[in-house]
Amino acid sequence: MSIDLSTTWLGLPLKHPIFPGASPLVDDLDVVKRLEDAGASAITMRSLFEEQLVADQLAAHRFLDGPADAFAEAPSWLPSTGDFALGPEAYLEQIRRIRQAVNVPVIGSLNGTTPGGWLKYAKLIEQAGANALELNLYDLPSDPKLSAADVEHQQLDVIRQVQESIKIPVGVKLSPFYSSLPAFVSKVEHAGVAGVVLFNRLYQPDIDVETLTLKRTLHLSDRHELQMRLRWLAILSPQTRMTLACSGGVHDPLDVVKALMAGAHVTQVVSAVLENGPQMLSLLIAGLTRFFEEHEYQSVTQLRGNMNLARCPDPSGYERVNYVKLLASWHGMPASR
Ligand SMILES: Cc1cc2nc3c(=O)[nH]c(=O)nc-3n(C[C@H](O)[C@H](O)[C@H](O)COP(=O)(O)O)c2cc1C
Repeated sequence: MSIDLSTTWLGLPLKHPIFPGASPLVDDLDVVKRLEDAGASAITMRSLFEEQLVADQLAAHRFLDGPADAFAEAPSWLPSTGDFALGPEAYLEQIRRIRQAVNVPVIGSLNGTTPGGWLKYAKLIEQAGANALELNLYDLPSDPKLSAADVEHQQLDVIRQVQESIKIPVGVKLSPFYSSLPAFVSKVEHAGVAGVVLFNRLYQPDIDVETLTLKRTLHLSDRHELQMRLRWLAILSPQTRMTLACSGGVHDPLDVVKALMAGAHVTQVVSAVLENGPQMLSLLIAGLTRFFEEHEYQSVTQLRGNMNLARCPDPSGYERVNYVKLLASWHGMPASR
């Protein structure tokens, strides 16, 4: 039996649904080649960040405007340009080098939340040869005067500005935190976006109670994080014609199977590759192929979405009633001490 693992992401045909998501894995060309050798069906660039690009523009301004005091100090909220692994020029050059080195699509990534001059990098990423662009809307609103509608309005402006400036397909990477994710995803689709990545992982600060400082800790994901993605893939996949990517908690071939069944077109893997190396991708691809053989699935199309909200035998399992039943099902007692 021949098995067809091909799929599409942002309108790009891919030979199978497993590839690395945005991460530092792209910083080293040798690592990128190892990812391709391990079977990656696409390469996602790490992001260029709004803060980085704004800082760069400020620096250029200062240089052009002459005397050092002609321009105020860079705002304190801006990370210093040294905080970023690849400067904007090096980033564009890395896209060009990767495009020459590999035979799979290369997806650029921009990360920010406000419309503005920094978005000219969408065009530069396209010109550097990226086959598509992911726009990561990592937002953390903390201003009580800014309503949910204001936040969404601003994000849609960013999307439109990017859409208007380039011809390559655009994907949007979202956080799970919207008052109504389906309504926002529908607006994203109307803006002409080709696909949505579910989800960003928001990195949370910890408090050091002795030094009264914030600790930045970057924990890699584990498999528990997949379930939230499964739920939203299952809910959104019957509602949209955009392609969907699962990002977060994919560590095992069965995680890929579940994401596809919930409605994903592709899975993006980062933590598992950072932990285990590029060969993790070959393990996932081999495991996915084995699952298809053992369960006599012939194509991704046949399997995709067969457990989404419209098609699974118990759709309530994805909805609020499941939460009520789950809490009611707890019969254990706290351990006596
Ligand atoms: C070290 C590291 C760097 C990352 N950098 C980016 C980035 O630049 N842009 C982005 O959109 N996501 C970035 N991510 C998030 C990943 O693309 C991915 O969404 C997240 O890690 C969840 O997938 P996982 O469970 O497979 O790790 C990064 C993640 C890690 C661990």
